[in-house]
Amino acid sequence: MSVPFSFAPMATLSHRAFRELLEDFGGCDFYYTEMVAAGALLSGGRFEAFYEDPLPRPEKLVYQLVGADPDQLARAAALLDGKGAVGVDVNMGCSAPEIVRTGAGVRWMADAEAARAMIARVRAAVKGRLSVKLRLGAEEDFDRLAAFCRGLEAEGVELFTLHPRTAKEKFKRRARWDYVGRLRAELKVPVVGNGDVDTAPLLASRAAGPCDGVMVGRAAVKMPWMFAAARGIETGIRTLPERIDLEAVADRFLELLSKHQPPEFWESRARRFFLYFCDNLKWAHHVRTALARETELTAMAAALRAHFAQNPEERWAPAY
Ligand SMILES: Cc1cc2nc3c(=O)[nH]c(=O)nc-3n(C[C@H](O)[C@H](O)[C@H](O)COP(=O)(O)O)c2cc1C
Repeated sequence: MSVPFSFAPMATLSHRAFRELLEDFGGCDFYYTEMVAAGALLSGGRFEAFYEDPLPRPEKLVYQLVGADPDQLARAAALLDGKGAVGVDVNMGCSAPEIVRTGAGVRWMADAEAARAMIARVRAAVKGRLSVKLRLGAEEDFDRLAAFCRGLEAEGVELFTLHPRTAKEKFKRRARWDYVGRLRAELKVPVVGNGDVDTAPLLASRAAGPCDGVMVGRAAVKMPWMFAAARGIETGIRTLPERIDLEAVADRFLELLSKHQPPEFWESRARRFFLYFCDNLKWAHHVRTALARETELTAMAAALRAHFAQNPEERWAPAY
């Protein structure tokens, strides 16, 4: 039996339009939303309905919350709980300075007692699955990490996702997957691993363990067919065509984006998508510049079409 695959919570990327695109290829087992700010959710911002949208597969959706105030986090969690989703995930991994400064994200890992007390309050508000996504902490200190997670487990956290980098590390140094197996051995609840799974064969091999699930972020944006490809490798039942038409994938994404996201979000969401999607191309320099210049979705699609017309071999990517 293989372990579940999850699509990572990623600001500006983990929205309904992208989930629909993943579903076109067969999807994955759990979809995390981009982090939703507890305070903004409670004050009913203009765009909150888009962050709360659980479609197309509410039964696979996990809402991720970010915040520093335990009361706000608990109330926001109660609001999301009961929308038919799997549950709520608390972000203890985000290391963006503007988040950490407020006391949220990975800042929680600096104060185990405060984190425990906060989780106890959120737990009381959530009937669904309560999970936490976190990093190694400020430093590489396994005993401290294990003690931190045991404390949260005692308060009712049902699943951890570990992105094994320290708080300060960006993406340069590789994720240390050995920590995923070590943490799993310390806890009773499942531990999902995340970080640098950048090909379908690697996803299939990471899924072989030791871990209770694999979460993928950036590579699944580059290759929305990646989860299906990895399952095909695992099972020997290959459902994808041998080659993927990148022009068709981009067009479909832009169509879904305009259908399921507000116009105010189109440009930023499309830009972020193309940042990773263009990694499929060998000669991406020109098209990246062209895409960066455009502000309309139709013009972005046209820039990409022009690139494929000039470089026809670039249009196709191997599925496996
Ligand atoms: C653009 C971007 C936005 C992200 N936003 C979030 C977020 O909202 N919540 C979160 O827990 N992690 C966030 N992350 C971290 C990812 O969930 C994931 O842990 C990280 O990208 C490593 O996985 P990967 O190598 O598969 O991309 C973000 C990462 C990126 C690149």
